[in-house]
Amino acid sequence: MKITVISGTPRKQGRTRQAAAEVAEKLQAALIDLSEEPLPLFNGTEEQTNHPAVEKLRKTAAESEAFVWITPEYHNGMSGALKNALEFLDSSDFKGKPTLLCSVCGGGKGGMNAINQMRTVGRGLYAMIVPQQMVFDPEDFEVDGGFIRETEERLDQVLAEFQQFFLVKQ
Ligand SMILES: Cc1cc2nc3c(=O)[nH]c(=O)nc-3n(C[C@H](O)[C@H](O)[C@H](O)COP(=O)(O)O)c2cc1C
Repeated sequence: MKITVISGTPRKQGRTRQAAAEVAEKLQAALIDLSEEPLPLFNGTEEQTNHPAVEKLRKTAAESEAFVWITPEYHNGMSGALKNALEFLDSSDFKGKPTLLCSVCGGGKGGMNAINQMRTVGRGLYAMIVPQQMVFDPEDFEVDGGFIRETEERLDQVLAEFQQFFLVKQ
């Protein structure tokens, strides 16, 4: 079962990357890190299909059977980097594939806007967005890396429930 985590932060120094790496490790998933392999701004031209990061994204997505999208919440929405990445893909990459949504916020009850926006976008891509979801607040992270214990347990529960959808599908 090939699972791919798409980390939507454009920032190398950020909590989203940290959370994405942990989720990928727990799921033994591939990781597309948009801060490490930035994509060009989608313009719909043929030349972009030869861009190495675009080729890798498309190949990885086509081969994947499930996804986690994880984005920072920026100005009440998903990152532009993640939305741009999704423009390079289409419903053939996502149709019927279980997809879990996570967001990383700055606190103050943020994070849900980005999740809700991703739900709408996911519907446009025919992704099988699961009802489980995860918002990471600043307090969910340990100062020296990793999640606090309560968050780790909550994440493990969410990931276990997410994986039930693979069993249903097989
Ligand atoms: C441009 C920008 C806009 C932001 N807007 C929001 C917001 O609307 N809601 C929120 O909860 N946090 C907001 N934040 C805080 C980020 O969500 C928070 O710093 C999070 O850790 C970002 O993930 P990153 O560190 O991977 O970039 C914003 C941060 C930036 C840089």
